[in-house]
Amino acid sequence: MLTHLPRPTIFAHRGASRHAPENTLAAFELAIQQGADAIELDAKLTADGQVVVIHDQSLERTAATATKVKEMTLSQIKALDAGSHFDCAFRGEPIPTLEEVLVNFGRLTYINIELTNYTSILDDLPEKAAGLVKKYGLQKRVLFSSFNPVALVRVRRQLPDCPIGLLAFPGLSGALARSRLGWLLSYQALHPELRDVTSALVEKTHRRGARVHVYTVNQVQDMQRLFALKVDGIFTDDPITALQARSLAKER
Ligand code: G3P
Repeated sequence: MLTHLPRPTIFAHRGASRHAPENTLAAFELAIQQGADAIELDAKLTADGQVVVIHDQSLERTAATATKVKEMTLSQIKALDAGSHFDCAFRGEPIPTLEEVLVNFGRLTYINIELTNYTSILDDLPEKAAGLVKKYGLQKRVLFSSFNPVALVRVRRQLPDCPIGLLAFPGLSGALARSRLGWLLSYQALHPELRDVTSALVEKTHRRGARVHVYTVNQVQDMQRLFALKVDGIFTDDPITALQARSLAKER
């Protein structure tokens, strides 16, 4: 699992979100054009149970609407503009569904789906997201991640062949996820925050046979440090910079 990806894998965090509005088809397309190895996105449910791709629980920051995603239907969400907050050149860029992302990019890149039903943990997001991956036969092209271990257990029940990555909050609040307790999940990857990554954490995780994918790494110095520690992947808003840093690290 995951071994076919270049190492360290460059995941475009919410797409190429430094150069295009996050979590939009434009940002994912750009990430692929820029040469990212994989894309990362945030999935959650609308009021009518459709899986959409957006990071925040509220639509305010990226779509100028002070309402929660889970309180709006897909057709209401589709009428919003998720591009103008970034740049007027992207005006009218819609919030995509997970299905649209899988159809457009599922055969072109590898996809990390973060299950972000953090304020509605009992909803059907894991089963619905898994159902879409199954519908398009993308089990070998998808990694699921979440800060919520229960969502990962549920998705693995649906798709035992899909790897799972446990996200750890930064600092003390992520200590349990990074500890032996987190191992109980038998995850394929640990996703720690960049300041928590030490050589001890990388070695311990590797000894367990799991990978280390680090979020969110945008500074070249951080990339260099993490590549020297032999992490297996990074999430970055800026795949071009990360690809250059990886090439330089390989030359040394
Ligand atoms: O999945 C990596 C990273 O995206 C996790 O943090 O807050 O951006 O979802 P966040």
